[in-house]
Amino acid sequence: MSRQQHKQAVRSAFDRAAESYDGAAVVQREICHRLAGFAAAAPHVGAPCRALDAGCGTGYGLDLLASLCPGAELYALDFAPAMLIRLAASRPGTGTSLLCGDLEALPLAGGVMDVVWSSLALQWCDPAVALAEIARVLRPGGVAWLATLGPATLWELRDAFAAVDDAEHVIRFHAVEHWRNTAAAAGLQVGAADSQPVHAFAPDLRQLLRDIKAIGAHSVGSEPRPALTRAGWRVLEGRYDAHRRPDGQLPATYDLILLALRKG
Ligand SMILES: C[S@@+](CC[C@H](N)C(=O)[O-])C[C@H]1O[C@@H](n2cnc3c(N)ncnc32)[C@H](O)[C@@H]1O
Repeated sequence: MSRQQHKQAVRSAFDRAAESYDGAAVVQREICHRLAGFAAAAPHVGAPCRALDAGCGTGYGLDLLASLCPGAELYALDFAPAMLIRLAASRPGTGTSLLCGDLEALPLAGGVMDVVWSSLALQWCDPAVALAEIARVLRPGGVAWLATLGPATLWELRDAFAAVDDAEHVIRFHAVEHWRNTAAAAGLQVGAADSQPVHAFAPDLRQLLRDIKAIGAHSVGSEPRPALTRAGWRVLEGRYDAHRRPDGQLPATYDLILLALRKG
């Protein structure tokens, strides 16, 4: 599958997920709040006049971004039209400009943004391409506040699937060092970087997998995987059950990476 076909498959998956997204977005919201707290503590830009939420989904991050950048003109970009349609329906008359476009080819002129915020979208992108685009649209001195996922994300699931087959069921995530180095190569200084675990919980594996699908951490459109047999499912459940907590909930770990970058 070419990179373009893969991107199209990811986009279609998010289009299909748009309707149920807000109902399953517990971890996404927690991560938006962690990114907002991290950004508030990072060196600021003065009074920003334009701020972009790149990979905005249904727009949960926009109010947090607005409170970090009071008075700024807000732009919300996503490549899945169904996400933007839901966003538009939930925020009538707020004046936010909606852009249907790709984080790897931002439909914006160079140097026009003071702030770029992106929460949980960059794990789908090529870091070098997306960070170069963010650097291009930021004005000198502008900042980017980014949340993405690191290699320990869903380690419990990866471990459980390893007992079933050799296929990739969880996408591979880049380490924080890779993001730091790639940011520097794109002309973005790393003001702050942090890694921290975030946990999601579900009563059973089926629910946990549904939530993972909604967050977009499952593998989409990659090479065909063998169908899970009934016996395979039992092995998977048994293996995952080893992680069950005393309160009966199954955990899923998200290895959150937070970055505050500044264009030199
Ligand atoms: C897990 S959701 C996060 C949405 C939102 N930022 C939040 O925190 O709730 C990821 C979003 O990124 C979008 N996305 C993924 N890759 C993208 C790309 N290359 N260009 C634009 N949007 C992208 C998806 O369509 C989806 O809406």
